[in-house]
Amino acid sequence: MGSNECLVIAHRGLAATYPENTLKGIEAALQLNIDFLEIDVHKTKDNELVVIHDDTIDRTSNGSGRIQDYTLAELKKYDFGSWKGEEFAGLTIPTLTEVLDMVVQYNQKLLIEVKKPKQYPGIEDLLISMLTEHKIATEDVVIQSFDKKSMKYIASLTIGHQLGVLLSRKRYWYQKPDFKALAEYATFANPDFKLATAEFVQQAHEHKLLVAPYTVNDLTTKDQLLTAGVDGIISDAPNMLFNIE
Ligand code: G3P
Ligand code: CA
Repeated sequence: MGSNECLVIAHRGLAATYPENTLKGIEAALQLNIDFLEIDVHKTKDNELVVIHDDTIDRTSNGSGRIQDYTLAELKKYDFGSWKGEEFAGLTIPTLTEVLDMVVQYNQKLLIEVKKPKQYPGIEDLLISMLTEHKIATEDVVIQSFDKKSMKYIASLTIGHQLGVLLSRKRYWYQKPDFKALAEYATFANPDFKLATAEFVQQAHEHKLLVAPYTVNDLTTKDQLLTAGVDGIISDAPNMLFNIE
């Protein structure tokens, strides 16, 4: 844990201020005293890993269509900044390589979410080989997903990356996760913040799981979660929430 009250995790870069998952927003987040930068990865038609939240480019670019139907060169022609504000016009979709090249210049760790791995056969191996290629130390990255099978697969590779399982409200509002089973391969159990009660956190801790809820953008919720005992907070506005520069 760094110098803050808990692990501070910048969600999709500094997403409250900049277009999410762009190099501009990512750099702004890395310049802050945060512990982790969170990003999302998908795979293109020509097997390149790109940093974007949705599996289509409709919401965050001036184009439309699925990532998996585009080559990287095709995707790079679109504008991923203007939707957030004209001052961001011309920002392109970052590759994971571009993000890793930037991250190694800073001290923060990386929280990488593998999005919809079932849609992208081989994405886990590709991700691991890229982290190795870029000489990213295993202790400097946590890989997470809503897809438990994908995380179990990475655990089976025994390379030593810490793993996280994301827990949605839709799936877990009526039943607690099986923390014992998660703890067999994961270090983090990261829930929708509405799931993160004191009881939830206590049960996770009994199995030595760390808890970093997503996505927390107001001070009241932050304080409630800290009282519940969470280990980290994933936020679009960590600068505002933790008063950090
Ligand atoms: O890091 C957790 C959070 O990013 C999961 O939800 O939809 O923002 O990727 P989402
Ligand atoms: Ca995410």
